[in-house]
Parts: sequence; C-alpha cells; structure tokens
Amino acid sequence: MHDSPEGHASTATLTALGQRYYLPVYRPRELVLDRGEGSRVWDVEGRDYIDFGGGIAVNALGHRHPALLAALTEQAQKLWHVSNVFYTEPPLRLAEALVEAADFAERVFLCNSGAEANEAAIKLVRKWAAAQGRGPERRVILTFQGSFHGRTLATVTATAQPKYQAGYEPLPGGFRYLPFNDAAAVETAMQAGDVAAILVEPVQGEGGVVPAAPGFLKRLRELCDAHDALLVLDEIQCGMSRTGTLFAHAQDGVTPDIVTLAKALGCGVPIGAMLAGPKVAEVMGFGAHGTTFGGNPLAAAVACAALRELDSDTLRANVERQSAVLREALMRMGGQRLFREVRGRGLMLGAVLKEDFAGRAGEILDHAARHGLLILQAGPDVLRLVPALNIDDADVAEGLQRLSAALDDFLAAADA
Ligand SMILES: Cc1ncc(COP(=O)(O)O)c(C=O)c1O
Repeated sequence: MHDSPEGHASTATLTALGQRYYLPVYRPRELVLDRGEGSRVWDVEGRDYIDFGGGIAVNALGHRHPALLAALTEQAQKLWHVSNVFYTEPPLRLAEALVEAADFAERVFLCNSGAEANEAAIKLVRKWAAAQGRGPERRVILTFQGSFHGRTLATVTATAQPKYQAGYEPLPGGFRYLPFNDAAAVETAMQAGDVAAILVEPVQGEGGVVPAAPGFLKRLRELCDAHDALLVLDEIQCGMSRTGTLFAHAQDGVTPDIVTLAKALGCGVPIGAMLAGPKVAEVMGFGAHGTTFGGNPLAAAVACAALRELDSDTLRANVERQSAVLREALMRMGGQRLFREVRGRGLMLGAVLKEDFAGRAGEILDHAARHGLLILQAGPDVLRLVPALNIDDADVAEGLQRLSAALDDFLAAADA
C-alpha cells in the first residue's frame, strides 16, 4: 500500500484499487485527491489544482473553511447520531434558520442527498393530491426535458433524459415531460386536468446550465394556481446563493410550494432538505415518511454554520464580481473558435462548445486537469464552472491562466 519514501500510496496503487473494487459507474480521472484549502486541492503526489468545480457544486465555501471545521469538530465531540424519535439541537436550529430565510416555507424535512429531497417532494405532492380525493391517475407531475432530479427510481423518472433511464424499466408512472422554457406546451398540458405539480430547476444544471427564461417560472406559478397544482422548485444545484440570491427563485419573483436543497447546503457534508409551504406543510403526518440518517446532528451542525456564511451580501457581491470576471475571460479566450456562448447565473456558468467541437467537453477537462485545474462538464457540449462562492481574485486569475493553457493544448491537439 505505502509505496513512496514519504509513506503515502501512489496514484497508480490507489487508482488500481478503484478499478478493481468500485462498481464502475464513474470514470474518474487518473489522479487521487488528498487534501484541500480554500479553492485549491492537492493530489497524493503533491500537485496542486484550482477547484473551479467546487467538488461538484458542493463546496460553496471552499475546502477546510474555518467556521465549518469548528462546527464539525465541536459537534463531533458531542453527539453524532440519535434516532429521529428524539430531538437534538443542530437540526432543530437548521430547520428554524431555513424557514426564517425562506419566506414561503413553514416546515422542513431533512435528509441526506438531493435525490432524497426530491423523492420526499414527489411523495408530498402525491399525499397532497390524495388528501384532496384525487385518484392516482390525477397525480401527474410535469417535468422538463434536460432536467436532472436524481438517481433513485422515482427521481430518475422525473429526470426527463432517456440516457439516465435506459435499462431501468419498468419506471414508476405519473410523470410527463415537456420542453423546457416552453410556456405554451405547459398551458396545453395543464388542460388535461390531471396535473398535481410542476417540478422544475430554476437553472438546469446537469442538462447544460440553462436558466429558466425570463417570466417562465411566473407563468408556471400562474398555471399552477389556475389548475390547482403545486409548484416544486429543485434548487439543489442553483440554490444557497450560487446564482446571486440565497434562493434562485427570488430572481424570478415567484412563491413556490416546495423547494428542495442539497449540495451547498452542507458545503461538503451529505445533507438535503425539502422546504414545504402552507399548502402542503400539514399534509404528512406521523409515519408518512422518514429516514435513519436525515437531520443527523453532525451534518446539521455544519449546515447551520454554512447557512450563516452563505446568506451574506458580502459573499453574494463576490459571486457577482467573479461571475463577471469569468464570463468575460471565457469569451475572450474561447469566443472566437471554441464557445458559442457563456450562459448561467452568478457562479453557475456554462461555456457552450461550438458545433465544430460538439461532444468534446471531456477532452478539455482532461487537458485542464493536466494543467492543474478542475472543471466540470454539463453534458458532452458544455464546460461547467461552479466554483466556491468565496473564491478570491488570485485563485480566479490563476485558474483562468491554467484554463487558457489547457484550451491552447486542446486546440493544438485538435489541429494536429
Ligand atoms: C438539480 C439537481 N437535483 C438533484 C440532484 C441529485 O442530487 P444527489 O446527487 O445529491 O442525489 C442533483 C445532482 O446533481 C442536481 O443537480
């Protein structure tokens, strides 16, 4: 195992373990990350990387943030887990803080991941519809092409992308898919009278970093009101100040019935949440839903500290400033040959490859990693930048230099 003079295992040794023992559902790059600080991480060989991916849109305060470390270590000394049939203080404080921060919400269900938060939302929609006396055939949830809502059987069915569903049939019923940002299609679909809810990301993440068009969410709200349906917003990726407001939908001027959160909610500890507004907050009673680990005090203590840091105008000013820097630099570097557009909001940005380079985002990620930069893709045609919201000028500048070198290498290889 320990095959270096310094006593650490080499990249080759460790990646061989992954290849031998992991179910091969991921295709990780040939590097093994070991530690992080702010917006930098180091691999086991000691090479440093700028993290423009924030893990995967999770580490909104970077790595080893002092307030989060303090919250984690303090709680680690006290209590990690009790059954949810007992109260502990950190999740109670988190629920209180989330409801106070969200003007639409009355109650919170805490869980462990984004998929679980959406699963809870889907179940809540159905319970609500059932309580109204609607039969199963009138509990349809509309979702949108290009969406991503998770990998459990219900959430992958909500995810209107065939590539995630293939081979998992039979899929649960009760979902119908529409083109994103097509208000007329939603109007028509609502006429059927069987729609219980619309589930939508204010900014689609995995589907290519595509914001809802101006006025689209407002129109969905109106249609939900007119047809007695619920508006459910998946803010798992775009929430927690990433797009410039604590909740992304604040920019769309709508009041949702349910919002789901995860990713940056714990800034690196696994936690998710479903926030329920007045129409649905009292629908689920004793025994209707539950989880062993959801709302455990360890994760909740970190999320409480994270929320205090993330709900900050100073932080949001940094989001807007770095967003402008990144947008301008991306277009300057790649606007001529590589990128058709840079889209997104705040620090959730997608650089869309031109037709000539369609399908080649993964190659650019490989070049970036070789130059000491971690970025993500959102599908085969979009580079996705979702860095820590507190990333500073120096790390942005150095990350952009590394990106520029990576893009040069990519183009040189493409021209060869
Ligand atoms: C918008 C959105 N919803 C749901 C999920 C699923 O979250 P998790 O992977 O924590 O289950 C993701 C994950 O990428 C997401 O981006």
